[in-house]
Amino acid sequence: MLGMQTKRFGRNLKLLETTTSTQEEVRRNAEIGAAEGMLVIAEEQTLGRGRQGRSWFSPPGKGVWMSLLLRPDQSLACAPQLTLLTAVAVCRAIRTLTQIDAGIKWPNDLLVNGRKISGILLESVAEDERIRYCIAGIGIDVNMDLEDYPEELRTKVTSLKLEQGAEVDRAALISAILQELETLYDLYQEEGFSPIAHLWEALSVTLNREVTLHSGSQIVQGYAVGLDSSGGLIVQNEEGKKVTVFSGEVQLNT
Ligand code: BTN
Repeated sequence: MLGMQTKRFGRNLKLLETTTSTQEEVRRNAEIGAAEGMLVIAEEQTLGRGRQGRSWFSPPGKGVWMSLLLRPDQSLACAPQLTLLTAVAVCRAIRTLTQIDAGIKWPNDLLVNGRKISGILLESVAEDERIRYCIAGIGIDVNMDLEDYPEELRTKVTSLKLEQGAEVDRAALISAILQELETLYDLYQEEGFSPIAHLWEALSVTLNREVTLHSGSQIVQGYAVGLDSSGGLIVQNEEGKKVTVFSGEVQLNT
């Protein structure tokens, strides 16, 4: 199926015409004991969701809407690292398969020329601060034309087709992502977060930029200087003080 080269990721595959959210499908399967690597792909989501309670526009037939089950034996504090790992895998797959120069905005947005082309939603279920399982949700705008989007999104988003000027094979893209994900996840299990952080830094459009970070009621303004060991973003403010932020929304200023 899909010409997959992976050993585990996507071998147990559920393909759906329509669903509320692939996150929910994976959650149901995880709760009845599905093994790591179980994958749900939908042609359409009727209640696709994004980070911070936002909805995710998921029309039929033109995007990649999928969720993968992970069961890392890690503490809950490591979950943000998996968000960055997933973003790296998707970014590398896009760059390998197309000529498109996608970059990662911390923590999980993939941008092309400042417009969002993909988002990652990593949801974790834990017990006593240990991860029971994570669901890595991936949304990519693949073959959308501008008219496919609601008016209010048109200035903020783009698709692989719009950037490349030709349709992209969604099955090939999914295979490439799963291959990257499995390789990076194995590397992460063997060597920890550090090699993933280096790959993330090389693809980042956030580092070495002036940023404004909205994290809950906190607003942090400064220069994005690096990642900390758990995947947080280190921002140096005007007084030279370094602040690490673990969640929130980044606005790129320069
Ligand atoms: C974001 O950028 O806010 C994250 C968007 C994540 C969207 C994907 S599409 C597949 C999976 N199912 C969902 O309902 N959401 C994620």
